Amino acid sequence: MNFLDYIESHREHNLDELKDFLRIPSVSTKSEHKPDIARAAQWVADRLHGAGFSKVDIIPTKIHPLVVAESLEAPGKPTILFYGHYDVQPAEPLKLWTSPAFDPTVRGGNLYGRGTADDKGQVHIHLKALEALQKSEGKLPLNVKVIIEGEEEVGSVNLWDFVTKNKDRLRADALVVSDTSMLARGVPSITYGLRGLNYYQVEITGPSQDLHSGVFGGAVPNPITILAEMIAKLHDKNFHVTVPGFYDDVATLSAKERKALNALPWKESEFRRTVGAPGLSGEKGFTNVERLWCRPTLELNGIWGGYMGEGSKTVIPSKAFAKISTRLVPDQNPAKIAKQVERHIRALLPKTVHCKFGLLSAGKPWVASYTHPIFQKAIHALEKGFGKKAVFIREGGSIPFVTQMHDTFKVPCVLLGFGLPDENAHAPDEHISLENYFGGIKSVASFYSALGQP
Ligand code: BES
Ligand code: MN
Ligand code: MN
Repeated sequence: MNFLDYIESHREHNLDELKDFLRIPSVSTKSEHKPDIARAAQWVADRLHGAGFSKVDIIPTKIHPLVVAESLEAPGKPTILFYGHYDVQPAEPLKLWTSPAFDPTVRGGNLYGRGTADDKGQVHIHLKALEALQKSEGKLPLNVKVIIEGEEEVGSVNLWDFVTKNKDRLRADALVVSDTSMLARGVPSITYGLRGLNYYQVEITGPSQDLHSGVFGGAVPNPITILAEMIAKLHDKNFHVTVPGFYDDVATLSAKERKALNALPWKESEFRRTVGAPGLSGEKGFTNVERLWCRPTLELNGIWGGYMGEGSKTVIPSKAFAKISTRLVPDQNPAKIAKQVERHIRALLPKTVHCKFGLLSAGKPWVASYTHPIFQKAIHALEKGFGKKAVFIREGGSIPFVTQMHDTFKVPCVLLGFGLPDENAHAPDEHISLENYFGGIKSVASFYSALGQP
């Protein structure tokens, strides 16, 4: 049986198996899920054995283990490194899920559940593609190294250490990743750029403890007011970020790239529908595609402080907090940006409060050329799975490992995304389209098969 027939005849089996994977709540940010993380790592390791990998290791790190495997039995053939993550974002707020987050359910041609698109479903696409090649041909057509981590959703904090200490083990001719999206349904896409991400937390302290707002209000600084005023000054009226120097190192888009990106079949109406807000807003002077993929941003992720319980409580809080992040683009430097952001925030605050500023994680942006012949093979493979020619896109999200690998090994990074922009990654009712899941397995198997041919 050839591998495409094998894949076709294993549709039900593969889907059932993916559901098993999705039932494991491998939420990396919460320590209560440590045992689930361990189970998920073991699950991935078992599937790799099933796909013919003889060497599979679960490698502990300071937080969550890596699954590292290799099958190097195709002498003279290229070696690829496949990367993915088995950890997921928390499912909260649980009430907003139509079916439970960790009880995967098919509805309307989609599979719903936390991790379906980001990234367990996409990892499974590769596991099943490799298995199909192994089972139908008796061996893999190329050399494959695999690294699947459990800390992506918390910033890949311990991964870099492993990479630098295990360069030989990871070295490959190309990196292959499926942790991104297609531009739109039916438009297979290869991503050649990602934004970087710095994540900060700010803690403002005024009075040394909460105070009665009637007795003290009017004569003492309110940290929430001060935090809000500071935050309001982080953008100007054109939605430029006001941090001095923030844009200094931003590479300007070439006229050619700008034209190509803006000519993609990106539909504002679809984007608006996905967003669901009464209107859009963004940096003046740029198109939405440029704003999303090629411009740096500063975002508020959370803000809290004071009384947030039921009813009212008259209080001047001692503290106010904010979680802030900056998405970065080439050639911004995360360390330099972090210093600029801290300096700016401190300068905006009055002397009447203290400020604690923390950098929780930092990650570089990535953009690369796609002239290497491997991209032609990727286009053909995607055509096998989706019947359409792929487009080259950039995306706004961040995958720290891609940048790290590209910097370390200077090899082509092939990002084949099988998610869709409206599949609710990180949100309730996350799902993956079954068409993309099954088409993905066929595409990836075709890609690996083609890489094994001269
Ligand atoms: N798979 C995403 C990254 C992504 C999403 C890339 C959409 C392109 C399009 C990944 O799991 C993710 O969520 N990354 C985080 C960064 C991380 C450091 C927490 C992100 O982008 O917020
Ligand atoms: Mn992901
Ligand atoms: Mn994610």
